[in-house]
Amino acid sequence: MNFAARQTLVELGARWAEAALSPAVYDARIDAPDASDASLTFVKHQALMRAYQARYVLLPSDPPPTGVLALLNRHYGADRLSNLAQLRWDLEAELIAPLVGAPGGDVAAYTDAMLAEIDAQPTNAFVAFLEQADHRDDHYRNFLVQSAPDLLAEASASALGVVGEFGEPQSALFRILIDEFGYGSYPRKHSVLYRAAMRSFGLIDEYNSYWPLFDTSALRTHNVIHYLFQNPAHIFRQIGFLLFAEAAYQRSTAAHFRYLREFHPTADARYFGEHAHIDLHHSRMIIDEVVAPLVAKFGQDVGGEIIIGAELTKHAFHAAGEHVLGVSQAFAAAGPVSYGLPDDVRRAVGRTVTPSSDLCGLGGPVLIGAIGTLADPAMIADFPPDTVGRLLSTETG
Ligand SMILES: [Fe+2]
Ligand SMILES: [Fe+2]
Repeated sequence: MNFAARQTLVELGARWAEAALSPAVYDARIDAPDASDASLTFVKHQALMRAYQARYVLLPSDPPPTGVLALLNRHYGADRLSNLAQLRWDLEAELIAPLVGAPGGDVAAYTDAMLAEIDAQPTNAFVAFLEQADHRDDHYRNFLVQSAPDLLAEASASALGVVGEFGEPQSALFRILIDEFGYGSYPRKHSVLYRAAMRSFGLIDEYNSYWPLFDTSALRTHNVIHYLFQNPAHIFRQIGFLLFAEAAYQRSTAAHFRYLREFHPTADARYFGEHAHIDLHHSRMIIDEVVAPLVAKFGQDVGGEIIIGAELTKHAFHAAGEHVLGVSQAFAAAGPVSYGLPDDVRRAVGRTVTPSSDLCGLGGPVLIGAIGTLADPAMIADFPPDTVGRLLSTETG
């Protein structure tokens, strides 16, 4: 932790706070870190998320009363974009590069072992928790919100990996991409199906509406994915991401689909049902039409890079899954608590606290993700280290 980096983040945060009342998609705020290392890491991940978000098009669902052009030009202005671009490389080196493992092994053998491991997995631990939990809706809402940084713009990261000119596997990747975009039919676009799932749990479905609730784990997952796809040098690692993600996602979405059908029969589960089906095909396409020909052409060196990307993805997904379960378990064990979210999250929340923040003298309830509030802020000390809570704002009550 160095002072210059902390100070830079505080100054940029103050500048971007001007966008607070913008439509959600252009709300570019980051938090001011408190004295804990966990808080500084969290804010660095927020800044890295802002850097990555600045690389793709966002328009609000409803036209702003003042028109969209001034907002668009401010959000993607040269000054802001160059600040973000400068920060990005240092933040990636500090936050993401240490997660990258060493290459090694034969990618065909790796793939066989990976598929066998995914097949042999026991039931989804979060779904198993939900099945016996009280307040399932609240826990599921948090799962949807913490997954939203990537899924509400699903495949926008991987789209950045498809542009260019790199041979036949590029066209296989493009065919997967157009499935992710609903094959040109907006209602079938995966991010739109995800919006419908969120709405059916009473959540706002606009991109970036819940950014104040994203915890360090949610931001890290988003940032790992964009670290891979926003750098063309990572093309083989990107393919490793897809190799693992398409295979594993098919299984986890099938578990969620069954859970939703049984326990939330009125919820919109199409997002999960679609993936449980189509990712079987995507997984085969990556293995047969992308990995195999690229390794045949460029050799096992690139196979090693593919394995690096797959392993990075596996660890990121695993950590995120453990974390979201750990937060729900800690909340279920805490007391006194109340379940539910404030109506307007972007206005209602105040400063953040982490399990290692100085909690002395803090009053008022602390909101934990989209689950609900702890009556006593000190209770956050028993939560997983990547948890981020929010005091409710004193300004709005
Ligand atoms: Fe998808
Ligand atoms: Fe897919």
